[in-house]
Order: sequence, then structure tokens, then C-alpha cells
Amino acid sequence: MLSGGKGTRLRPLTFTLAKQLIPVANKPILGYVLDQVAETGIKEVGVIIAPETGQYVKEYVQDGSRWGFHVTYISQEPLGLAHAVKTARGFLGRDDFVMCLGDNLQGKGIAPLVEKFSGEALDALILLKEVEDPSKFGVAVLDSKGNIVRLVEKPKTPVSNLAIVGTYLFTAKVHEAIERIKPSWRGELEITDAIQEMVNQGCRVKAEILDTWWLDTGKKDDILAANAKILDEYIKCEVKGEVVNSTVEGRVTVEKGAKIVNSSIRGPAVIGENCLIENSFIGPYTSIGNNTQIADSNIEYCVIMENTLIKGVERLEESLIGKNAKVTKNSRKNTIKLHIGDYSEVEV
Ligand code: TTP
Repeated sequence: MLSGGKGTRLRPLTFTLAKQLIPVANKPILGYVLDQVAETGIKEVGVIIAPETGQYVKEYVQDGSRWGFHVTYISQEPLGLAHAVKTARGFLGRDDFVMCLGDNLQGKGIAPLVEKFSGEALDALILLKEVEDPSKFGVAVLDSKGNIVRLVEKPKTPVSNLAIVGTYLFTAKVHEAIERIKPSWRGELEITDAIQEMVNQGCRVKAEILDTWWLDTGKKDDILAANAKILDEYIKCEVKGEVVNSTVEGRVTVEKGAKIVNSSIRGPAVIGENCLIENSFIGPYTSIGNNTQIADSNIEYCVIMENTLIKGVERLEESLIGKNAKVTKNSRKNTIKLHIGDYSEVEV
């Protein structure tokens, strides 16, 4: 389970959190991926962590018993996906294994892939998804039988519209392939190069084409899209908190201890434990973390993390707000006052 990396595109959140732990529908992305691994019956899980953010991943996953796993943590400098496999070689031994990216969500789950991989005695099986703009992805070219012939990183000329999704299954033959590859121009050991090397060596490398959604949550807009998708798929109508002089429409979960006063909530949305929402409108596709206070504001299509204060904000949309943040209106007209961290982005 790859939960390392640099997460530069999600700064400043990734200064104090691993990007795989950013919540969508109030649950860390990594939690959904681990749920899918648990469905396969896999019990031994090696979790790759980065030196800077590993402690946060450990705090969340702990010993993995919540999922029925036995977890081993493996610390890795972020030098590429194939480098992560190389670093985990002692843990993996000669076993077959599944490699998942802890920040990639997909609608199908992993269990059918594990079955196909074992049933067809393959050396590698990778998941692909048809995309509109292949030039942004690593893509695969297949023959008529679904065997992988060639992999191309961010192709300038369209060779295939099948992007590589973050789920891979390998036999131990991948280790020999990784030994033979060199770091790419960006200084990383690329898993696409290792898979190409397996193809060149005559290994049985096949693909499965994903017929449902896939989200790579590397950037702010991807997190918001994942939040919308997960709210659509999973959220239930469930009001455990208190609703006073307010309307709650559509699929909305209000967690225990939360209080909604003189407000309107339109789902799909989730309001975390002990939140206080007053004189506000919370629109569709919004997740609000625990202990957050929102007053005199209108919010839509946002991920707001825990312990946050939002007050007097006329309209807040398409925003991702970290823990313990404050967004408030000041009393001086046409003046913006900021106290924000490094690499923050503010649109005014
Ligand atoms: P990426 O999103 O490609 O890389 P990154 O985390 O360094 O992000 P950024 O480009 O914003 O700096 O990584 C995909 C997944 O794999 C992600 O969950 C992090 C993980 N990963 C590792 O565990 N080790 C690595 O060496 C790399 C490159 C990624």
C-alpha cells in the first residue's frame, strides 16, 4: 500500500498530513482503499510511508486490526513507484502481491482482479481506464488478446487512450525487472519501465479495463471530485444530531452532537460530530469535518476539515480547507486580510 510520496501538489495540507489521509465524505481516502484490500481476504499488508508524513499514516492505520490486517511499515524516500517495490523487497519475499496507490479510488474494488490474476497464472496484471486526454497519463497499448505490448508515459502522439490506474498485481518476477531498469529523467524508478521490462522479457503481462469510475486524488480539484463521487455513492439519510428551525433535504448525514440552527442543508452532504451550523446554507457535495463551526455563510461543493471556523462568508465554493483553519469576514469594506501558510492558494 503506497502511502509515501511528496504530495507537493497538495501543499500546504501535506506539510502536516499525508495526502492519502485527506478526508472525502469525512473519511481518509486511504481508508476506502484499505476497505477494498480487506474485501480480497489479503491479511499481510506492507504500508510504504515517507519520512515526513509516515507518522500520520501510522496514527490512522495503527496495527491494521480494524481491517483484519497484519501491518508492516516500510519507510521509503519518494524515489518512484518501482523504488517503493524495491524498498519492500524484504517484506515481499518471493510472494505474489497487489500494489495499490493509497490516494487512488476506483469503483470496482480489487477482489475481481486478484481472482483473474491467480486464475490465469499471469506475471503481471494492471488496471487501465479509457480517458479523454491520454497525454496526461501513462498509457498502455494492447494486442487483440488483451496482452500488454507497450507502455508510454504521457504520449505526445495518441498511441492509446487507456491510462494506467493505480492498482497492479505482480509475481516476484517484477523484482528482476526492477533490477534492470534505470531512473527516468525525473530521477525516479518508474513502475511503467519495470512493466515494460517484464513485457520485453516475455512475461505474461495482461490488463483489465475498468468499466467504472477512477479518481486519482493528487490535486485540490481531484479531492473535490472524489468527495462528490463518494457522497453520491455512500452517503445515507441519517440525522443523529439536533436540527432546530432548519431544513435538511436529500441525502444528508448529521453526526452525533452536531447542531443545525436556522439553516438549510441540501444533500448529498455530511456534517461531522459536534459541528455547529447557524444561519447558513450548506449545499450539495459538501463534507464538514468534526467540531467545525459555520455561521452566517453559504457553502457548496467543499471539503472542510475538522475544527474549522467559517463565519460571515457570503459564498464559499470549490474549496478545500484544512484543520483548525479560520475563514471570517472582516468589518472593513473591500479589504482582504490574510494569514496563510506556505504554498497556499487564495482566489479573491
Ligand atoms: P504521486 O502522486 O505520483 O507522487 P507524489 O505523492 O510525490 O505527489 P506530487 O506529484 O504532488 O509531489 O504518487 C502516487 C502514489 O504513490 C501516492 O499515494 C504516493 C505514493 N508514492 C510512494 O509511496 N512512493 C513514491 O516514491 C512515490 C513517487 C509515490
